[in-house]
Amino acid sequence: MPPFTPYWNARFLPVAWQKLLQAIEYRPLRSWFYFILQYQAWAHSTGWGPFGNYYEFGTGEGLSLAQYADALRTFCRHTGMPPNRFRIVGFDTFQGLPPTENYRDAHPGLPPGRFAGSTSEIMELLRRKRVITQGVDVRLVEGRFEKSLTPQLLEPLRAYPPSLVNIDVDYYSATSVVLNWLRPLLSSGTIFHFDDLWLFHANPAYGELAAIREFNARGEGALEPFPLFASPAIAGHAFMFHRPEFEWKRDEKAPPPPV
Ligand SMILES: C[S@@+](CC[C@H](N)C(=O)[O-])C[C@H]1O[C@@H](n2cnc3c(N)ncnc32)[C@H](O)[C@@H]1O
Repeated sequence: MPPFTPYWNARFLPVAWQKLLQAIEYRPLRSWFYFILQYQAWAHSTGWGPFGNYYEFGTGEGLSLAQYADALRTFCRHTGMPPNRFRIVGFDTFQGLPPTENYRDAHPGLPPGRFAGSTSEIMELLRRKRVITQGVDVRLVEGRFEKSLTPQLLEPLRAYPPSLVNIDVDYYSATSVVLNWLRPLLSSGTIFHFDDLWLFHANPAYGELAAIREFNARGEGALEPFPLFASPAIAGHAFMFHRPEFEWKRDEKAPPPPV
């Protein structure tokens, strides 16, 4: 068995080393987040896309959130944009993967309870990364999505609709609940990262892939694979949402937007 493969690491390395290697493995995500911030800032400045609000479903132990925090801090430094213009909303059980009976979720690598991180650990991480101290608005929503993602929760978020959504929840059932709940908040140009798309070897009847297909079949907008910056991490893939009608049309009477 070759060294430093996930298999080898899990068998021979102490947990602290495994965590260090995992953190390194997640680093490409940081550049991806940075490029997406640049891309959406440009689209937003010329009036054709959402910008600035990051939603993460499945915050787990905070590995991907740490990459976003680093990217956002660097982006603010490079552009001079004030951090208090940005928002992060994280959603999780904060108790790890919940048990599930759905056969579309069933994968041997996903035992219940795995990836547990607490709200206090996540807030501490974001404090350490200085996004909270610099004024980024952070909100964590605790609970199983099936219970926590209510119509009432949509209301306060309508003022801050997501521009970038990271779905790292492993299961078909969880992805499906998240996508259906999010739909009224979505505008064309919202970019999604699905972390676990290939867990079932691209079988479209299982996992996140099945949830995306069902979501698209409803016809109230759709997720299309986004080839620009397509694959930020080892397992993930980027998609872009569009509504049935392109809603960022130019207002012919308005003065031209600043370049
Ligand atoms: C792979 S982990 C997330 C890893 C995290 N993004 C990171 O980089 O450290 C998957 C997460 O999805 C959450 N999750 C899965 N199904 C859920 C559900 N139905 N409701 C709430 N959270 C769920 C689990 O609690 C778990 O923390």
